[in-house]
Amino acid sequence: MWTAHAGARAKDDLKARMGRPSFRLVRPRRNLVTAGTAFSWHVQPEGNMTATAAELTTLIRTALDAVKDPEIRRPITDLGMVDTIDVSENGIVELTVLLTIAACPLRDKLTEDVTKAVRAVPGVSELRLTLGVMTDAQRTTLRDNLKGGATKDIPFARPESRTRVYAIASGKGGVGKSTVTVNLAAALAAKGLAVGVLDADVYGFSIPRMLGVTGRPTRIGEMILPPEAHGVKVISVGMFVDGNTAVVWRGPMLHRALQQFLADVFWGDLDVLLLDLPPGTGDIAISTAQLIPTTEILVVTTPQLAAAEVAERAGSIALQTRQRIAGVVENMSAMTLPDGTVLELFGSGGGAIVADSLTRATGATVALLGQIPMQVSLRAAGDAGVPLVLSDPTSPAAVALSAIADDLAARTRPLAGVSLGIAPSRR
Ligand SMILES: Nc1ncnc2c1ncn2[C@@H]1O[C@H](COP(=O)(O)OP(=O)(O)OP(=O)(O)O)[C@@H](O)[C@H]1O
Ligand SMILES: [Mg+2]
Repeated sequence: MWTAHAGARAKDDLKARMGRPSFRLVRPRRNLVTAGTAFSWHVQPEGNMTATAAELTTLIRTALDAVKDPEIRRPITDLGMVDTIDVSENGIVELTVLLTIAACPLRDKLTEDVTKAVRAVPGVSELRLTLGVMTDAQRTTLRDNLKGGATKDIPFARPESRTRVYAIASGKGGVGKSTVTVNLAAALAAKGLAVGVLDADVYGFSIPRMLGVTGRPTRIGEMILPPEAHGVKVISVGMFVDGNTAVVWRGPMLHRALQQFLADVFWGDLDVLLLDLPPGTGDIAISTAQLIPTTEILVVTTPQLAAAEVAERAGSIALQTRQRIAGVVENMSAMTLPDGTVLELFGSGGGAIVADSLTRATGATVALLGQIPMQVSLRAAGDAGVPLVLSDPTSPAAVALSAIADDLAARTRPLAGVSLGIAPSRR
């Protein structure tokens, strides 16, 4: 039996000698061992097997480099999940992979990926896979590796962070913040950006339903892995309470909850983080400004004058917190009925009024980024958990939302304040 790390040369020699022999799966077997679950696949080699155990171990390790943990999305070899690889001379492989937690929700997917990768290695005649579980110490090492050692640090607040953080805000409730948030998130993810959504509306959380997230976050020690839907990583208070329970939290608790979501959740390298704020200009908006000062505010309003006045107040909080306003989105704008008539249910002009007055108040141009018409299917898509930009991308509201996403995608975080990590040379 071998547990070896042979060099890359051995791997190349082996590949040259063996070509790509074929395998025949004889029978799958599943049995339990004390340390975890062992899966065994017997593969009968049909080619000429001459690999040494050391060479085979190297090939297997290389094959496992390509297997990513389905939740963390990093190679399992980098995460310390490959515990032992034992290879006997006749190509029987005993492999132990450590799960981050015993109740790992995606263990079947991991088993499948590992099995596929190892079985594809020429010279493997049988795989005996054991799934173990990391110890607390191993989990701490994993968390420190992933989060750069600093556990209470908010990665988006670091000067070198390249993530653009947008807080979706409004004065009034029910103007479409959450609807805008999930559609922008889905559209940005569909463009290939790494996107996260933090449902910061602790009382009225609605993001999990609108994105169709049913999964719960996985905890690895103090680290929380967010579930994903439509390519978007999502965290919401709604995932931590039973059923439709109301959350009764006061200011300091809200601040701590937000801090925890930002610091303890493993978001990975995001291009964009969207924060769906509760309505109004309350504690959460101020906490956001304190926790991530570079957060930009995206103000949502309806075309109605009364709503616009309240939205201005929400936007003008940015003056006090010294945050940038990314722009204004007018939602529930005029819709064209099947007979061609235009229905302005909530009037018109609110978005432009808010953009103009915020431009005057801040002294910087605040643009009206788009007008999203009233559309029944936009509401229905939210109820169904599939954002309209995905389910009906050519409909008027989806086109308007996608155009705003395009605008945001084209922006990069300003380099001001970013350390380039180089020192001036001295002559
Ligand atoms: N353009 C639109 N056309 C039709 N329905 C819409 C539109 N925008 C939002 N809605 C619907 O209006 C309701 C309120 O929207 P949403 O929940 O997104 O608002 P909100 O600002 O997040 O509300 P809250 O302040 O309660 O968090 C939802 O039922 C949503 O589906
Ligand atoms: Mg909402």
